[in-house]
Amino acid sequence: MRSKVTVVGAGMVGATTAQYLAQRNIADVVLVDIVENLPQGKALDLAEAGPVIGYGVSVTGANDYEATAGSDVVVITSGSPRKPGMSRDDLLRVNMNIVRSVTEQVAKHSPDCVIIVVTNPLDAMCHVALQASGFPANRVLGQAGVLDSARFRAFIAMELDVSPKDVNAFVLGGHGDTMVPLTRYSSVGGIPIDQLISAERIASIVQRTRDGGGEIVKLLGTSAYYAPAASVVDMVEAVLLDQNRVIACSAHLGGEFGLKDLYVGVPVKLGAGGIKSVIEIDLTDDERSALQHSANAVTELVAAMERLQQEA
Ligand code: LAC
Repeated sequence: MRSKVTVVGAGMVGATTAQYLAQRNIADVVLVDIVENLPQGKALDLAEAGPVIGYGVSVTGANDYEATAGSDVVVITSGSPRKPGMSRDDLLRVNMNIVRSVTEQVAKHSPDCVIIVVTNPLDAMCHVALQASGFPANRVLGQAGVLDSARFRAFIAMELDVSPKDVNAFVLGGHGDTMVPLTRYSSVGGIPIDQLISAERIASIVQRTRDGGGEIVKLLGTSAYYAPAASVVDMVEAVLLDQNRVIACSAHLGGEFGLKDLYVGVPVKLGAGGIKSVIEIDLTDDERSALQHSANAVTELVAAMERLQQEA
């Protein structure tokens, strides 16, 4: 039997995720949205692309969760995207309620699934999904590190005019303005980037990475979707095919990196069943304090959500 992946939210991120997933030909895809006819229409269009592109998995759309039952992985993209001038954190109030009610439905119909959250503000939304699902923390994670690292890799490749395939980079911390691109662990064909790029240019690439989502919002008037969708599909594949990928994602920490009960972007081993382990790496004092600063920003958002919940 083929694996089954549900994508909740048939907006640009959700529909593009369904598209890239179908193209990998590794799982049937169910696209869910509350808007009538939207997921059915996009799913049918994607199914009709199958004969041309060469995939044979089923792609279906639904407005409720019956069709999602027994999914192996569920990707949550639903919520309001950013508009120009908004930070990811401005979305907190509206998206926490959406993610909570979506997660309750997901957990009811697919009690054994791995949930990958994409909705912003990402790390805070992972807290909501963990609580609402009642799942163990290794089965609830957030997509951010792959995307942030992809942007960092793309900018390094553009700078050096080399294939992005040969660029390795990773980004720690929350998916927000305080994220921590780790230049010390970034390389091109195994060569540390500080041997290839000046310190000044690296600093500017790091800043562009931090602002990467905002740069797209300014251009498009809404959030990015191609790179976010491609990133989440890599994570889905790692889980379905038990690849044990070593990638950064938003994971629930239980003391690693000196952080407890907090979702923040860290390197993990990702495979069947979700996060198999968090990989702790040595950090310099500067890197550790940048990570702490980023974690503090997530802690503040979680506290703000608790206040909003009490007011409600
Ligand atoms: C971005 C959104 C998905 O970084 O947070 O583009």
